[in-house]
Amino acid sequence: MSAEIFYFSGTGNSFVVARDIGRRIGGTLIPIGSAIKSKAIEAAADMTGIVFPVHNVAYDGLPRIVHEFVEKLQIARDKYVFAVCTCGGGSGATVGNLRNALARRGGNLACGFTVILPSNVRPIADAQKRQKMFDDWTKKREAICGYITARKAGHFETFSPFVMAVFAPLTPLAHKLIHRMYAGLAGEPNLPFFEVLPLVDRGFRTDERCTGCGTCAAVCPVENIVMVDGKPSWQHHCENCVACVHWCPESAIHDGITNGIKYHHPDVRVEDMLRPRAS
Ligand SMILES: Cc1cc2nc3c(=O)[nH]c(=O)nc-3n(C[C@H](O)[C@H](O)[C@H](O)COP(=O)(O)O)c2cc1C
Ligand code: SF4
Ligand code: SF4
Repeated sequence: MSAEIFYFSGTGNSFVVARDIGRRIGGTLIPIGSAIKSKAIEAAADMTGIVFPVHNVAYDGLPRIVHEFVEKLQIARDKYVFAVCTCGGGSGATVGNLRNALARRGGNLACGFTVILPSNVRPIADAQKRQKMFDDWTKKREAICGYITARKAGHFETFSPFVMAVFAPLTPLAHKLIHRMYAGLAGEPNLPFFEVLPLVDRGFRTDERCTGCGTCAAVCPVENIVMVDGKPSWQHHCENCVACVHWCPESAIHDGITNGIKYHHPDVRVEDMLRPRAS
């Protein structure tokens, strides 16, 4: 049985999850940043996995690039598809939203899991809490791999319809607030949410510590950074993964998303994050 795992990752959490699952089920890893370059993405293997970080759970939790990936996915209804999202706090309705997006493309999400790992945008959990998250993942990965290799279906770690109904009246306000935050960063008050996101890099800056090493450009999963006169220049098709910020060896990049924290998964090296990242 063949398996392919499409993944997106900025600071390595989702990469580790995809890599750990891939090693256990014999799956091939495919970076979504590379797959997305094709007009249509064919899910060719017997089993398809989608692994990604939760972005903006108060909106719908799905990174913009995951929406684009699903839109391009050519997938039969009987294909076994599993998803795992990683997040720093909670995934809310993310898995359910992916399930709905996939259904609109004719696909069928068999199951979806949530893995909590240290956040790359919020004040970082202390060392003890972080270690607990890593330990929880080592236990959970066995359960997930057992579940998917048995091709079980029906387990969705997402808000129930009841919780969705309770939150529904608050959704427009939550959308408005989060939209306003990103619109402010991009300087575009009138564009729709998903058109604002790629422009958020307008606010990215480097300071005098930048040595021109080019690591930021090399780790960007969507080639959104080119080096101009030895300094990074952002090209405004940013996917907000914050890889450039966290992997800069000099901590020279300032952005409006990460709140000044510095993080990457401890089992991931910068070499793992360089394009192309298939293995
Ligand atoms: C733009 C952005 C928005 C995020 N929003 C949320 C969120 O709403 N809830 C949450 O729990 N974590 C959120 N996170 C944290 C990531 O989901 C979490 O750190 C994830 O594991 C990172 O995965 P990665 O290392 O594979 O990029 C956000 C991160 C980014 C960069
Ligand atoms: S990774 Fe940091 S130091 Fe290197 S070029 Fe980019 S901003 Fe400059
Ligand atoms: S520019 Fe930075 S934040 Fe934007 S997609 Fe590239 S690495 Fe991610």
